[in-house]
Amino acid sequence: MPTDPLYLTTPLFYVNAEPHLGHFYITMVGDVLARFWRARGRTVFTLTGTDEHGDKIAQAAADAGVEPRAHADRVSNLFRTTWEEAGLRYDHFIRTTDTYHVAFVQKVLAEVHARGDIYFSSYRGLYCYGCERFYQERELVDGLCPDHKVAPAEISEENYFFRMSAYQERLLATLEKQPDLIFPDGYRREVTALLREPIGDLCISRPKSRLTWGITLPFDDRYVTYVWFDALVNYVSALDHLGKMDLWPAAHHLIGKDILKQHAVFWPTMLMAAGLPLFRRLYVHGHWQMDAGKMSKSLGNVVRPLEMKARYGNDAFRYYLLREMAYGQDAEFSEDALVTRLNADLANSLGNLASRILAMQQRYFQGVIQPRSPEPIDDALREAFVTARRELEARIGELAFHRGLEALWRALDHANKYVVETAPFTLAKDKARLPRVGAILHELSEALRVTAQLAEPFLPETARRLFGLLGLPDERLAHLDLPWGQAFAPGHHTSAPEALFPRVEVAPA
Ligand code: MSP
Repeated sequence: MPTDPLYLTTPLFYVNAEPHLGHFYITMVGDVLARFWRARGRTVFTLTGTDEHGDKIAQAAADAGVEPRAHADRVSNLFRTTWEEAGLRYDHFIRTTDTYHVAFVQKVLAEVHARGDIYFSSYRGLYCYGCERFYQERELVDGLCPDHKVAPAEISEENYFFRMSAYQERLLATLEKQPDLIFPDGYRREVTALLREPIGDLCISRPKSRLTWGITLPFDDRYVTYVWFDALVNYVSALDHLGKMDLWPAAHHLIGKDILKQHAVFWPTMLMAAGLPLFRRLYVHGHWQMDAGKMSKSLGNVVRPLEMKARYGNDAFRYYLLREMAYGQDAEFSEDALVTRLNADLANSLGNLASRILAMQQRYFQGVIQPRSPEPIDDALREAFVTARRELEARIGELAFHRGLEALWRALDHANKYVVETAPFTLAKDKARLPRVGAILHELSEALRVTAQLAEPFLPETARRLFGLLGLPDERLAHLDLPWGQAFAPGHHTSAPEALFPRVEVAPA
């Protein structure tokens, strides 16, 4: 198990859209990893926030008929309150309009400029307003921006440029020496292929005649900073502000594949120019698709986290997303599939198992846990959970959440079979066998205890409810090494069952 500190970041979300599934997913993954590693003794720090400058935001504010600042305040706040209600935790929330961030970006710009890596030049090129960047002819698809499917505008401007090309060779060599810098490997290959072609220099300014909503260049106040040269710096400015620069090279950036180039080419070359070590790793995920296309506001197929919470609960939504998407690949979001998973895995395998155990404990022993008397079949049950933990830990280490959950659910299947095979409800008909019934229920209560502990990062609310029903204190959720058989002292009481996950009959249309 790694013990080095883990500094986890999500992308900063643009404040031109309200929080949706894509934003939720990556923030939730950060929350899962933080909970998972903290329970295993690792120092973790998580950062998220909002990206508030640039054309896109100025445009969204104009459309809403308000000043950019007021618009940014409202939407940034909406992200925070949504995460709060959705049960997502993070350690710090940064806004690119925070004064400390603005000052830090200006400091970096001044340094890179002083070193000679920023120069002034006139530029004529193809500009996509949606992407807020210039395109080279060969990057277009049939003359159109590959993302926005519109023809870029030809514009000519005098601007400042970052000498990105000066760092191209060094970046390529670094990626060859440190292949785990980008994960999964397919994305590393994509980046190395890109670096074998000339990457050119990066235009990092926007004249105020065209855009004023941005960070003013410290060496020329007729210009604001290009939004990516501003936003990427957040990963360092937040640490500097919080006095946590010791976490710096421990950065693990969680990002979607849509922003790979910015994080794998712009960001490392910026760090090199600023004289800072590179981040530790990029963890790149795929996209959630709906009806085989991208989710989009204009198509009206946006999945809102709090609507999902209202219909199914936070944990069921989390579980479905983690179980459905192989990190790195695209996945299709379907509410029908969510309901199927909820009913099968959560209501049935986990919920029914918990209800049956707690109900029998009440019926036969008024909730009081009985002594153990381990038999080979009991040892096999315990072993199933030892295996589940080992597999889960190996899988989460490689961000294969779906595989990790599968491993835990194999142990739950084992526990359900154990109930059928040991048949405590049949044994209980014979008074003489009651001690064995008590022992079986003790083993099963241990199975539930370990399930709650292992499931906590993924199903935090359920884990707490289950612990409450078992009569165990929340602090012990992180006590993973508590030996099997020692969680329940003699005379320990468990509660009457409650439905953890009511079955859902049909998905709303
Ligand atoms: N502001 C930039 C990032 C700057 S980071 C210094 C940005 N913002 S964004 O609001 O568009 O959000 C981007 C991230 O949200 C993606 O990288 C991805 O992690 C997540 N998602 C947005 N839509 C998504 C899907 N449909 N599916 C999965 N995640 C996607 O880009």
